[in-house]
Amino acid sequence: MKIIIINGPNLNLLGKRETAIYGKQTFEEYYKILQLKFPQVTLEYFQSNIEGELITKIQEVGFTYDGIILNAAAYTHTSIGIGDAIKAIETPVIEVHISNTFSREEFRHHSFISANAKGVILGFGLKSYELALQSFL
Ligand code: DQA
Repeated sequence: MKIIIINGPNLNLLGKRETAIYGKQTFEEYYKILQLKFPQVTLEYFQSNIEGELITKIQEVGFTYDGIILNAAAYTHTSIGIGDAIKAIETPVIEVHISNTFSREEFRHHSFISANAKGVILGFGLKSYELALQSFL
């Protein structure tokens, strides 16, 4: 099973960014743990701060991979382009968020991803990614 985690803008700063909300662990550290926990999965990781690069990656993997775990970060709330990309592909997408976006500012309550995602997992910290992975298995 081939699954990719795609992270959007500012998630490269996990571990030092707003640690009260996002925690102190870097994604690279967490990703190593995920790889060890799920040896049966061919796991990949891609991060970009650039909307177009995220769309290009979604298109690239979206017809051959078994699953996409997508945290589009702030683009979740703004990007019709990422929403359209998810509509266009065949690979199922699980939307994840580290924080509970519904308990935060109102502009975080809307997602351009959710309507076309297979499911949404949010608010469990980095564990949200693990729960998404489990749901694919
Ligand atoms: C986030 C929530 C978004 O609102 C925010 O812009 C992020 C991270 C999360 O994982 O909790 O950058 O997607």
